[in-house]
Amino acid sequence: MADDQIDLFNADAVAPADYEAIPTDSKIPITAGTYDTLDDLAAHCHQCQRCDLAPTRTHVVVSRGNPQASIMIIGEGPGQQEDEQGKPFVGKSGQLLDKILAAVRLDTEKDVYICNAVKCRPPGNRTPTTDEVAACKGYLLEQIRLMDPKIILLTGATAMKGLTGEKRGITKIRGQWIEWEGRLCMPIFHPAYLLRNPSRQKNSPKWLMWQDIQTVKAKLDQLNA
Ligand code: URA
Repeated sequence: MADDQIDLFNADAVAPADYEAIPTDSKIPITAGTYDTLDDLAAHCHQCQRCDLAPTRTHVVVSRGNPQASIMIIGEGPGQQEDEQGKPFVGKSGQLLDKILAAVRLDTEKDVYICNAVKCRPPGNRTPTTDEVAACKGYLLEQIRLMDPKIILLTGATAMKGLTGEKRGITKIRGQWIEWEGRLCMPIFHPAYLLRNPSRQKNSPKWLMWQDIQTVKAKLDQLNA
C-alpha cells in the first residue's frame, strides 16, 4: 500500500487533516461541515492566519470546559491571561464567571463549554473589530454545530452582535430568551462589566445577573426533567 493511502481495515488509521484545503484567507468562508470534530477545529485554529490578530497573539484560545455540556458560554475575546495560558476566561472576569456559575451549582469544567467570538487577543484588550469577528465567525459556528448546546449564553454586546447581529444594547435585552437559528440563547452582562459595577443593590448589574443565572438554571432543569 502506498504511504499516502489510508488503511481502511486498520481501526486506528485516521485520515490526516488536509489543512492546506481549509481556508486561512479571511475572505474565504469556513463553511458548515468543514470540521468533523472539535479537535480538528482546534488544530486548525492553532495555525490560523485569517486576520490581523494572528501576528500578535501568544496562544490561540479555543475553549475550555466540557464539549458534552448543555450550556455554551460565548465571550468577547481573550485578554492577557487567556493569551498567556491559551484558555478562555481564566483571568479576573473568568474567576467571577466561575463564581456566578457555582452560585447555581454549575461547574465550569463539567457543566459548561466556554469560548469566545474571537480566538486571538486584540492588542491592549481593545474590542475586536467587526472584520475580526467576521473572520473568526466560521469557527464559532462550527463549534456550535459540533457541540450542539441546549442553551447558549452570550456575554456582552460583542458576543451577542457577533453571533446574532442583534444591535439593541445588552442592558435592553439581557435576561431575555431569544431564538437564533432554532437555538435557545440568552444575552447576559459580561463579567468584566460586573467587575466595574460592584454594587449588589436591587436592579444593579450584579443583582440582575443573579436573576438571569437563576432563570438559566431553571430552564436547564426544565430541559433535563
Ligand atoms: N473576556 C472575554 O470575553 N473572554 C475571555 O476569554 C476573557 C475575558
